Amino acid sequence: MKFLSIKEAMDKGSGEVNLRGWVHRERGSNKLKFIQLRDSTNIIQCIIEKSVVGDKKFDIADKLQVETSITIKGKINKDDRAPTGFEIHVSDFEVVGESNEFPITKDQSIEFLADNRHLWLRSRKMTAIMKIRSTIFGAIDEYFRKEGFHEYHSPIFQSVQCEGGSTLFTVDYFGKKDVFLAQTWQLYAEPAIFALEKIYTIAPSFRAEKSKTSRHLTEYWHAEMEVAWAKFDEIIDHGEGLIKHMVKKVLENNKEELKTLNRDIKKLEPTVKKKFPRMTYDEAVKLLKEKCKMKVEWGKDLRTIEEDKLSDLYDIPIAVTRYPKKVKAFYMKEPEDSDPKKPVVNGVDFIAPEHYGEIIGGSERESDIKKIQKRLEEDGEDPKEYEFYMDTRRYGSVPHGGFGLGVERIIAWVCGLDNIKDAIPFPRTMIRYKP
Ligand code: 4AD
Ligand code: MG
Repeated sequence: MKFLSIKEAMDKGSGEVNLRGWVHRERGSNKLKFIQLRDSTNIIQCIIEKSVVGDKKFDIADKLQVETSITIKGKINKDDRAPTGFEIHVSDFEVVGESNEFPITKDQSIEFLADNRHLWLRSRKMTAIMKIRSTIFGAIDEYFRKEGFHEYHSPIFQSVQCEGGSTLFTVDYFGKKDVFLAQTWQLYAEPAIFALEKIYTIAPSFRAEKSKTSRHLTEYWHAEMEVAWAKFDEIIDHGEGLIKHMVKKVLENNKEELKTLNRDIKKLEPTVKKKFPRMTYDEAVKLLKEKCKMKVEWGKDLRTIEEDKLSDLYDIPIAVTRYPKKVKAFYMKEPEDSDPKKPVVNGVDFIAPEHYGEIIGGSERESDIKKIQKRLEEDGEDPKEYEFYMDTRRYGSVPHGGFGLGVERIIAWVCGLDNIKDAIPFPRTMIRYKP
């Protein structure tokens, strides 16, 4: 017997079909039973009549619980009254796996749904988000491969920090305590550009974020790239190209899912069509002062509130560059025209529209070993631990740079989610690591 997916059956539109899936909803009388059958592709209304299937089978149908898995044989036809436009008149069905009373019913608390995340994944909402997530992961691979990048993998157990000691997860590594979970692939990626020149990865990163915000996870998926010979502008171009490609692919492939999520696609279309504004930190500070009546003291990092105010001025992501040196990481390059009294670095943050915050962080990399060592010391690090990294500047160094993109931040924005937690199947935060 050949099974069709619900989508394939609807495309066929008429005649006999065999389907399999789960009971999404059920209701009935003593002669008729209506079942909403769900599979990964769609939902369809199935009608079981006592006069067709007989008393014994009807009795089983009558007791079907939500989430029971079943196979169904029947005739499909178009019916505008049915919730998804088609219905099936069932000639026979079999129960595959019975279901206990499903704990998730309407109107449950966020906590309850988080405790039952393994079951909540079956919801229409989570199914739609996970499909969009799949499109986005595919689009990242597609973008980088089409641009001639090699996929490259860095270790998750690492011996140095890269993005600040305060968000490092220490691992008990056979009793040793100087082993950390990756915050980024970067220090292990830069050595590989001397072999592969253009590289990318999609891998989990870990941050011991002690803040409970709607933008931070302790484990998130990080799409990162590193390019040899690259000028700063090329790195920014790739950031813009990647974001455009991801959004374009979702608009092409996930119209249905965006509808399920009530996401207004008009909010996403400009990202594909328009060029992203690029501005320096100084220009951003000026805009904040003139257009948002916010005063930012030169040298202070842009906080969430300032990023949100800036993003309110645009319907597309913006790229902010040339941040004050002291608010950015030790490896960022100080450009030649940086003012020694107000030193800046060629770092870039992409800020998403609609208050979704920083979606990309990247930079050109500092080539001067002395400057790197000095910055590490200022951060309280022992430069000796970074000797392997300094070798990238000792043996045929070339201008290079890269960026990291928080995949769940992109998913949260594209899907219009209230919280980043729904962008990943099993979110990990300061207070949530179960189930
Ligand atoms: O700006 P970040 O810290 O940059 C780096 O890690 C660089 N080493 C990347 C590179 O140049 N290869 O992180 C990059 C991005 C941020 O812009 C944000 O989108 C995301 O990672 N991110 C988080 N996403 C979810 N939860 C968190 N706790 C995140 N921290 C950073
Ligand atoms: Mg950053």
